[in-house]
Amino acid sequence: MLGWLPENISEYAQGVDSLFALIYWITVVVFVLVMGTLIAFLIMYRHREGHRAEYIEGSTKLEIIWTTATTVIVFGLAMLSFPQWNNLKSAPDNPDYVVQVRGEQFNWYMIYPGPDNEIGTEDDLELENELHVPENKLIQIILTSKDVIHSFFIPNLRLKQDALPNRFLDNIKFQATKPGTYEIPCAELCGFGHTTMVGFLHVHTQEEYDAWVKEQWSE
Ligand code: CUA
Repeated sequence: MLGWLPENISEYAQGVDSLFALIYWITVVVFVLVMGTLIAFLIMYRHREGHRAEYIEGSTKLEIIWTTATTVIVFGLAMLSFPQWNNLKSAPDNPDYVVQVRGEQFNWYMIYPGPDNEIGTEDDLELENELHVPENKLIQIILTSKDVIHSFFIPNLRLKQDALPNRFLDNIKFQATKPGTYEIPCAELCGFGHTTMVGFLHVHTQEEYDAWVKEQWSE
């Protein structure tokens, strides 16, 4: 499809890439048609001795055709987008794991519930810029910000959501299909350190993850 996109490791976002490719190719076709016409008309109607400019009033028929075509394309894309959007941006019913993420100039802070499975209690673990999850499990992120608007972006998961101060958004979920380390850049210009604001998503196998959990809470 489009080879330059980062590898898609999301269970929920597989359809996003084909939608992206469809929009991309529609744009390419329209661009070529419009620019081709523009260049052709520049040549056809250039100034030449003995040719007089003609007064024309436009074409109602053409106006109707391209307005209708645009409307049909835009509505069609909207219909195709809704299910993808809902699939990606709805709160999960029964997440396997919940992690709170807080944007704060200029880091991501990940807050894991301890053995009591509740965030906001004594046994919480807070890490800087490290999000650890097991593969193929449903993860819910509760997203917030301490200061300004940040944007939590995981390109490999096709996931992007603004983090807002004093709001705790629960509509982010994902299921990562491949172990590895992936970037979590901040995608909102949030101050001088914006470009250095990057976290990492570590996707582990279940055994690796369980070992990691054990290590964290035995110290
Ligand atoms: Cu936070 Cu840019």
